Amino acid sequence: MTFDFDTCPERRNTGSTKWNRYSGRDVIPLWVADMDFRCAPEIVEALHARVEHGVFGYTEPPAELAPVICDVLARDHGWNVDPEWIIWLPSLVVGLNVVSRALADEGDAVLTTVPIYPPFMSAPRNAERTLLTVPLVTRALPGGAEHWEWDWEALEAAVTPHTRLLLLCSPHNPTGRVWSDSELQTLAHFAARHDLLVVSDEIHCGLVLDTDKRHRPFAGLDTDTSKRTVTLMSASKTFNLPSLGCAFAIASDPQLRARLRRTMAGIVHHVGGLGYTATLAAYRDAGSWHQALLHYLSGNRDLVETALSRMPGLRSWHVEATYLSWIDARGLGTHDPLRLFESAGVGLYDGAQFDAPGFLRLNFACPRTLLREALQRMRAALPV
Ligand SMILES: Cc1ncc(COP(=O)(O)O)c(C=O)c1O
Repeated sequence: MTFDFDTCPERRNTGSTKWNRYSGRDVIPLWVADMDFRCAPEIVEALHARVEHGVFGYTEPPAELAPVICDVLARDHGWNVDPEWIIWLPSLVVGLNVVSRALADEGDAVLTTVPIYPPFMSAPRNAERTLLTVPLVTRALPGGAEHWEWDWEALEAAVTPHTRLLLLCSPHNPTGRVWSDSELQTLAHFAARHDLLVVSDEIHCGLVLDTDKRHRPFAGLDTDTSKRTVTLMSASKTFNLPSLGCAFAIASDPQLRARLRRTMAGIVHHVGGLGYTATLAAYRDAGSWHQALLHYLSGNRDLVETALSRMPGLRSWHVEATYLSWIDARGLGTHDPLRLFESAGVGLYDGAQFDAPGFLRLNFACPRTLLREALQRMRAALPV
């Protein structure tokens, strides 16, 4: 079966967060992380059938859903999960806020690395927990290219006796890294040494673009790591379903699950029926669409990397996973690179929100003609 990623239905005037920002302006929006693609036909069909039924009373997850998710996790990531370990959530951001309250007490600190997806910083702050951030660093690889990695010494220096929780993003938004087994092992030892709980946000795990890399669930490393970890996942990033509100936490430790449930009770809304329907169809039926998507996104990634490498004043890094490119625009010598590109007709995400002023994030999950146009506009905004 072939799938059409080259055309997208008009998203203006559909309430799209991404497109509304520049409503009435000729600005191509490449900021918030959703995709300008129709989702898999199997998902649309499943939703049609559910809507056709016409009754939308209180809804439990389909009995098949948790076992299907466990099968996918075992097949794609070599991780054996018991369906009982799953707790349903309406979104991952809700999950980050719940864990910040449930797994760290008042006076405790939460540790994460920057740059990072903004809710990693806002969730601990919303919970009035102390936030500790450690910068990731770039390092040259054999062959000359650079990548982002952990600064283990800085991590050791940052941790305090009050630190209870480490927030990990794997694969990493915004740097696009797929953490290697050895990086994850080092992190697991660090967590064990300081007796930290770990929340591993793995929402991008289905978006590994490099065919020689594989996502390794942090909690799947060993039993001790599993016991101290809550993993957050969802089909919404890979299958483009964020407005349908279905995500889940996985925790093998019953006490951690009890703490999450206590914090959520009566406050966190249950998942909507359409979210369950779409998630089941995504994991069970949309494998061919998923493979075709990865192929298309890899092509877009290559286009972006070539184009950015020819833009003076910008630095960027190879995107191993996600559909997000992380750009250092400090070499442009302007204090507001976001505005520069907006004026040229391209809407990027401001790095300041990721704790990295002078950086930008570019979302390349859109039809290639639109992406080409955006890259040409960016180039035209720069000196020759
Ligand atoms: C790392 C990460 N976590 C969570 C989210 C948001 O998840 P949700 O829409 O389920 O709240 C995103 C969205 O881009 C993300 O990149």
